[in-house]
Amino acid sequence: MVSGFRQTMDTDLLAKLNDHLRLEFRAAHEYLAMSIWLSAHDLPGFSAWMRQQSTDELGHANRVIEHLVDRDQAVKLPAIPEPPTDWPDAVALVAHVLRNEQEVTASITALYEAADGAGDRGAQIMLQWFVNEQMEEESSARALLGRLKLAGSTGLGLLLVDQELAAGKIPGAASSSERVPV
Ligand code: FEO
Repeated sequence: MVSGFRQTMDTDLLAKLNDHLRLEFRAAHEYLAMSIWLSAHDLPGFSAWMRQQSTDELGHANRVIEHLVDRDQAVKLPAIPEPPTDWPDAVALVAHVLRNEQEVTASITALYEAADGAGDRGAQIMLQWFVNEQMEEESSARALLGRLKLAGSTGLGLLLVDQELAAGKIPGAASSSERVPV
C-alpha cells in the first residue's frame, strides 16, 4: 500500500492463513478433476454439481486472500499438486471429497483458535463464515456418500443420484447445502 502503513497481524496466524490457501486451491483443482471424471462417466448432473464445488473453493481461497490484502498483509500463493485423474467409482470419489472437507474443517478450527489466541477479532469474524460453511460442506459430502452407498453400483441408482444433483439437491444434507453454494 502506498501509505506505508501496515496493520499488524500475528506472524503465526498470518503463516497459517497462507498455509490454508493450499487446501482451498487443492480442493478447487481436485473437484475440477472429479467433474471431468464424472462427465466422462455419463453423469452430467453430478459433474455440473462438482464443477460448482470447484468454483466455490476458489471463492473460499479468495475470501482469505481479500482479508489479507485488505489488511495489507503478505499473500503467498501455493503450488498446487497435479490432481488425480481416476477413481475406482463414484463412492471412492465422494469419500475423497469428505476427507478433503474434514481436513479443511480441522484447518479452519486451528485458524480460529489462533485468531482467538492472538486477539484478532477481524480474523475471527472472517473465519466464522468458514466455520458455518464447513458444517454444511461436511454434511453435504456425508449425505451424498450415503446416497451413493444406498444406490450401489447399479446404473439406475447412479442415474437417480445424478438427477438429484442436477436439481441441486442432496436429500439428508443440511438445508443450506441445497442452495447454490456461495
Ligand atoms: Fe473450502 Fe470445501 O472447503
